[in-house]
Amino acid sequence: MDQRTSSSPPLYEDLAARVTALVDAGVLRPGMRAPSVRAFASQHQVSLTTAVQAYRLLEDRGVLEARPKSGFYVTQRSHRQRALPTASQPPQRARPVAVSSPVFSVLSYAGDPSYAPLGCALPSASLLAAERLDRHLARCARVHGRHYNIYADPHGDAELRGQISERALRLGHAVPPDGVLITNGCTEALNIALGVTTKPGDTVAIESPTYFGLLQVLEARGLRALELPTDPASGVDVAALDKALGTRRVAACLFASSFNNPLGTRTDDARKAAIIRVLTRHGVPLIEDDIYGDISFGDDRPRPFAAIGPNADIILCSSFSKTIAPGYRIGWLAANRRHDEILAAKFALSLSGAALPQKAMADFLKSGGYDAHLRRIRKAFADNVDRMRRVVDRSFPTDTRMTDPKGGFVLWLELPEQFNSDALYVSAIRERICFVPGGLFTATSGYRNCLRLSCSHDWDARIERSVARLGELAHELLT
Ligand SMILES: Cc1ncc(COP(=O)(O)O)c(C=O)c1O
Repeated sequence: MDQRTSSSPPLYEDLAARVTALVDAGVLRPGMRAPSVRAFASQHQVSLTTAVQAYRLLEDRGVLEARPKSGFYVTQRSHRQRALPTASQPPQRARPVAVSSPVFSVLSYAGDPSYAPLGCALPSASLLAAERLDRHLARCARVHGRHYNIYADPHGDAELRGQISERALRLGHAVPPDGVLITNGCTEALNIALGVTTKPGDTVAIESPTYFGLLQVLEARGLRALELPTDPASGVDVAALDKALGTRRVAACLFASSFNNPLGTRTDDARKAAIIRVLTRHGVPLIEDDIYGDISFGDDRPRPFAAIGPNADIILCSSFSKTIAPGYRIGWLAANRRHDEILAAKFALSLSGAALPQKAMADFLKSGGYDAHLRRIRKAFADNVDRMRRVVDRSFPTDTRMTDPKGGFVLWLELPEQFNSDALYVSAIRERICFVPGGLFTATSGYRNCLRLSCSHDWDARIERSVARLGELAHELLT
């Protein structure tokens, strides 16, 4: 019997997901004929209308194709067969960073709604919980507004720290509320963490490619980047990390905990443990950025490094910017040492955070809606990534490689060596399509043949057309 509830997705979506799973598992192979709509309806004991809706959705997503007078077939090429981008091999030399000015130029287009939104890793407002949060904010302001128009405790709201501590414990990361410091987004947390572990001129080891905002932070703090070989499927190369730390002084390592931007890698617990062992042996602290950890497409939310190595020198940085509301600028840092230095750094940077938004966030988390909200957005982002991969598969040159992320909402594409994503960017901007060229994700001269597409917006015809158009432009640039 169907156990559907009012919050379940419509039946036709459920049926489409089941057919997609059979295609992805290779049970239904490319070119195979699908049952007729009538047979499908009777197999699943659903109405003809529901079966037609499911088939339309499957056609829309490129899983099935209709052949005139012949019926439906599994599409010939499956996006699952696309090779992943090659593991990176950046030059093993620490170098200064200078990415800020091209990043600002891209961001000016990425924030403009007249451009197709494939650039900014910023979810659509409709996918976030900002409106609910606003209601909590209004209530907090009404009930005790005056009380919060103060210089708040520099540690941050005690109740919010308690909520964050409770959620961390669920992942096996035991950090007391006093070990949590509320920050202005993850960016301030990263700045504080780097401030207490490095000084200008020091070297920080990072993944390659890596999030350009992190490179900007290194640039602003006068730090040098040592980019490490990184595999899109498994993460940082542990032997290369060990060798790098053995041959030069590295002040800190800064890695994503899960679903790094732009590769979307899920590093397994065994590799995380191996990384922690290497860092501990060399006495190097780890700063981890767990901002995408909650957006796991599977049921199991990956554990951060801090949960795997509770006694290691790890500073965890994160925020609610990708899951609830980037505009509230609420992030946090959790560390098991250096508390006094961390507090002094926070004080020097911004005295304290805004009190009322923190209260509203604590109220929202306490209300218990966050987990249901996460379930909804995880599904939405997984769907968007899947759709984007299918359009890339049918539109981009056949030797394009792409990631297959299991969380987050960005895709990384690697085209043949001679491809120039800066040239693609110029053509795309002319057609009001924004994406991020690969060269922004490194302090080296690499990744000019790569690009990042964001799948963080509600899927619509403009997004689909824009990705397909990028594919056509990529073909033109390669001929
Ligand atoms: C990996 C990563 N870390 C940090 C940030 C910035 O986070 P926040 O907006 O909370 O400062 C981003 C934003 O794109 C990101 O992708």
